Amino acid sequence: MARILITSALPYINGIKHLGNLVGSMLPSDVYARFQRQRGAEVLFICATDEHGTPAELAARAAGQNVRDYCREQYEIQKSAGDAFGLSWDHFGRSSNAPNHRLTQHFAHVLEQNGLIEERADKQVYSVDDQRFLPDRYVEGTCPHCDYEKARGDQCDNCGRLLDPTDLKDPYSSISGSHNVELRETKHLYLLQSNMQDRIAGWLETKTEFPALTVSIARKWLKEGLRDRAITRDLKWGVPVAYQGEARPGFENKVFYVWFDAPIEYIGATEEWAIANNDNWERWWRTDKGADDVKYVQVMGKDNVAFHTVSFPATILGSEEPWKTVDALKSLNWLTWYGGKFSTSENRGIFMDQALELLPPDYWRWALMANAPESDDASFTLEHFASVVNKDLADVLGNFVNRVTRFCNARFGQAVPDAGEYGAAEKALIDELDKRLAVYANHLEEMEYRKAFAELRAIWVAGNEYLQIAAPWTVIKENPEKAAAAVRCGLNLILLFAVLSRPVIPFTSDKMFAVFGVDPKWGTRWPESAGAALTTLKGGEPFTLPDVLFAKIEDEQVEAWRKQFGAE
Ligand code: MF3
Ligand code: ZN
Repeated sequence: MARILITSALPYINGIKHLGNLVGSMLPSDVYARFQRQRGAEVLFICATDEHGTPAELAARAAGQNVRDYCREQYEIQKSAGDAFGLSWDHFGRSSNAPNHRLTQHFAHVLEQNGLIEERADKQVYSVDDQRFLPDRYVEGTCPHCDYEKARGDQCDNCGRLLDPTDLKDPYSSISGSHNVELRETKHLYLLQSNMQDRIAGWLETKTEFPALTVSIARKWLKEGLRDRAITRDLKWGVPVAYQGEARPGFENKVFYVWFDAPIEYIGATEEWAIANNDNWERWWRTDKGADDVKYVQVMGKDNVAFHTVSFPATILGSEEPWKTVDALKSLNWLTWYGGKFSTSENRGIFMDQALELLPPDYWRWALMANAPESDDASFTLEHFASVVNKDLADVLGNFVNRVTRFCNARFGQAVPDAGEYGAAEKALIDELDKRLAVYANHLEEMEYRKAFAELRAIWVAGNEYLQIAAPWTVIKENPEKAAAAVRCGLNLILLFAVLSRPVIPFTSDKMFAVFGVDPKWGTRWPESAGAALTTLKGGEPFTLPDVLFAKIEDEQVEAWRKQFGAE
């Protein structure tokens, strides 16, 4: 049995995530996990909140809470939102939990033993009025590249470049706004990535499953030459700089940098899962403990790729311990909000909790995944969303289920008709479906979501076309047996669609199974062939009439939402 470890990029703890975050990693990893489970693989799907660093501290400060309470509350909020969206994590952990602390300190320790960590004194931005150093987002100022005046110490939101706080012109504290800042010397630990250039480049060469977007981002970083990187910060909240319980002298008020500890939480969260389930985490992560035959898949937005193809591998490879490394890395482009940015800090766009107040999860899951930002950035607009829901879900899938069940009920009653044999029309349908099924599964396997769901839609359409051709409502007058066979085929198609659509619209899939009183637990296995799938219901099985699966979204509704969300 195939064993597949899937990790989604860890959402920052700083508030509920927007639809761009959802489609950037959490949702595509969920679809893949669900698909592989249906294929019969042993899947471990891991996610967690990314709780350290300046984003967490700043958000807690803005909320007027201490950071520990803030994180505990926000963790619960994100977990419930994920559950409500049907994200089927085997475990949703927290990077602030004990396993990550232990593992992060462990990695730093072995890296230092291997000569890859060095203590260096360096000048950092210090706020005299706040009496503290200002790492990363604690300092803002003018971008040296594009002159944007509100660039943050770690990145300029205007031109997208990564920055160092000391790069900023006219820097000021984002805590107090004070411009009374200076450069002061402080000690930090540096990871000597420059020593690892060849090792990482060589490792990357072995990753033949990486798609083009991923490879091009990684190559660009390697080409610029890997730079040594500070992996500690002058902050209080985070993983303390200590080895085996002993604080490192001079580092009592410092913690590890959030981007050092966050990816380690993939492992930490697996350990949390193992503790909660009385299982063994090492069989997923240690190649000397059985992880050799694991396929490890990571999913993330494009801004995370460098950290996963260069920095995290530097940690893992530098340890010289037998850790499992990523096999397939899916990266996504940006989803934009009417061509502009979704933004947590500026509250722009639709957030996960708000989305579910408007419509059930499957509407969003389908619209987002069928239009995932893969080859390019993709724009989310309410108009487009409504048209996708109406055209794909209501007109094609919902309409099919409705027509078949209602016609059967009217002419044959509420049981699957058992008369008649499949003929030429059914044979042609089965041939078409077999081809499409192979293509669909292949795209899902490759995590090519747009292509996959265009194919799934084509499969639904094939069902509708078959009904048009078989036309049981006409045929029944001359040949009731032939009409019965067509209706039986249609009802079997509903079950087949329930199985095939399940990775992306699991709640609707449940409803479709419920039509036949079939427990999805045993009915969801991926079909071997269309022919076999379409003879699942033999005739005589009772069914119930479902409610309309998808309501159409009217123009007035779109208009009202546009106002509500300030869409331009
Ligand atoms: N929190 C980061 C972001 O949202 C992603 C962290 S991924 C991990 O961009 F590798 F650190 F886990
Ligand atoms: Zn800039």
